[in-house]
Amino acid sequence: MKKTKVWDLAVRLSHLLFGVLVLGAFLTSEEDDFIPIHTRLGLVLLGVVLFRVVWGFVGTKHARFADFVRSPKEVLEALRGMMRGQPGHFVGHNPVGAVMVVTLLATLVTVTVTGIIVSQGPEWSGPLLMSKSVAHSVKEVHEAAAWALPVLIFFHVAGVLLSSFLEKQNLVAGMVTGFKRADPSTPLGETGGRLARTAGFLTAVLVGLGVVLLLWRLMPIGSAEAATPLLSRYEAGARAEDPTFTRFDAARGRALYFEEHDGRTGKSSCATCHTSDATKTGRSPVGKIIDPLAPSANPERFTDAAKADKWFDRNCKQVLGRTCTSRERGDFLTYLDTL
Ligand code: HEC
Repeated sequence: MKKTKVWDLAVRLSHLLFGVLVLGAFLTSEEDDFIPIHTRLGLVLLGVVLFRVVWGFVGTKHARFADFVRSPKEVLEALRGMMRGQPGHFVGHNPVGAVMVVTLLATLVTVTVTGIIVSQGPEWSGPLLMSKSVAHSVKEVHEAAAWALPVLIFFHVAGVLLSSFLEKQNLVAGMVTGFKRADPSTPLGETGGRLARTAGFLTAVLVGLGVVLLLWRLMPIGSAEAATPLLSRYEAGARAEDPTFTRFDAARGRALYFEEHDGRTGKSSCATCHTSDATKTGRSPVGKIIDPLAPSANPERFTDAAKADKWFDRNCKQVLGRTCTSRERGDFLTYLDTL
């Protein structure tokens, strides 16, 4: 057994980046203000994952899936061996570690792809049109996969430490330096010629970097700059509700604003709280001050799509006994814009 180069630079660097990017994504996942950073980290992470997956087919010997992905039977055998304290000898990943490598990569793909879908959906006023329930389900998958990561990483690290102990060598340092004590009969770069390897590397970089650059350019990222103007979202919604829809109408919006409806608490309209002049400060029945609703008097209005949708849902239910359609929302906004 000799000190042998096992992990090439691409494997080690992508491994390091996985750690850094996952940690960064976790630290930026809670605050809404950090979501633009979170989304960018996730996008770069997807790029590195794609690079690593392609490298798993065209890379150096031990970087390849074919080198370490084994049948369930062999995995069980290797697991039994580890439990007996006699790990088999594997130059690259051992078959149990390989299961973890594939699971981690699959989880990273799930997390990043669902995250990108969420970032382009209604919650962040993105251009992807999908119902709230679909968006919600995608977000649940994103969060479940994200929370599976620390658990998987814990077992991954525990497995590496156990293997290091059993094999009496520092496998963590190995992933940094690239060297392991191993049987050197099959050195690192033996697969294919130099030209093939260079072509493989360029392909992997092209796929990873290409997807990142393309999405980075195409996707609106983060709340502020994402905000496809609310009106154009409602326009798309109105067209989906009714294909003959042509344009929003301030008069219809004004009618919606003033129309009185019978409710549990007597007659009410939008004007009940927002007053007959939407450029003025309003007041709820319990006396709560409401800032002016018209954007001309209150520039903060309708800059946050999630907030607007939330209040449309709530207030329309209260006044009309049902939620407002996209057309009604668009009409309402168009009316307010004339004030
Ligand atoms: C019972 C009082 C009440 C009534 C009636 C009412 N609203 Fe409101 N509305 C509020 C309050 C309270 C807020 C939130 C406080 C704030 O944003 O200043 C709000 C906020 C909103 C917002 C959020 C705007 C933004 O900042 O994005 C919209 C949209 C809205 N209302 C639409 C309507 C419509 C449409 C009607 C009539 C169908 C209506 N409201 C009737 C109390 C009311």
